[in-house]
Amino acid sequence: MRTPFIAGNWKMNKTAEEAAAFANEIKDALNDIEGVDIAFCPPFLAIPAVAEAVAGTRVGVGAQNMYFEESGAYTGEIAPNMITPFCQYVILGHSERRAYFGETDEGVNKKIKAALAHGLTPIVCVGESLEQNEAGETQEFVSGQVRAAFDGLSGEEMAKCVIAYEPIWAIGTGKTATVEQAGGIIGGAVRATVAGMFGSETAEKVRIQYGGSVKPENAADFMAHPDIDGALVGGAALKTSFVDLVRNSV
Ligand code: PGA
Repeated sequence: MRTPFIAGNWKMNKTAEEAAAFANEIKDALNDIEGVDIAFCPPFLAIPAVAEAVAGTRVGVGAQNMYFEESGAYTGEIAPNMITPFCQYVILGHSERRAYFGETDEGVNKKIKAALAHGLTPIVCVGESLEQNEAGETQEFVSGQVRAAFDGLSGEEMAKCVIAYEPIWAIGTGKTATVEQAGGIIGGAVRATVAGMFGSETAEKVRIQYGGSVKPENAADFMAHPDIDGALVGGAALKTSFVDLVRNSV
């Protein structure tokens, strides 16, 4: 069985000092919640302080991005081995990175391979825009993103990855997909595509999160769907009520 996984994507919020204080405030309550994996994904400069704060608890740490090269002349980038001392996870291909920072399917594929080579668990984001959704293109588009992201992996590598299905129109908008919509895409497009590429045994091992305006009030509904294995949480991960969100998910 797949262990549910709730990750907080803090995006570009909290200084190192604020991040450590927040992590310290909620880590013990989170540590007491069993049956779920939990991670904080703070901005790069807050990662060491947050890793120190959660050391010895069940809360893991993830980065929000990284580059695929080992080192070199890549101004402004962060290499895998710069985050591995602190992180177990790395979010890759978030829709904000795709929309504002030129992230491509090809780049995401290279980053996934680099993350796995460094023992990091990638949390790979896929999801359609409102226009694609309204045009009925969701299944096809999301399947294409999955195929491009995981191209060339072994089944063993695939099973280690986490996928976050985040419809772009539901991110930060307060609008959520219905549980049926989200579960339908996750089962029908995301897991089915993984099964087509790697076989159903591997696909059954992959944890697939829903993301997009997940809150303490709706987390349980999403988690009740058999194909939804957790959540990638933005805004609601910045508040102490994130503890309630995680508690309501198990
Ligand atoms: P949200 O963000 O929970 O604020 O909608 C989710 C995400 O972007 O991962």
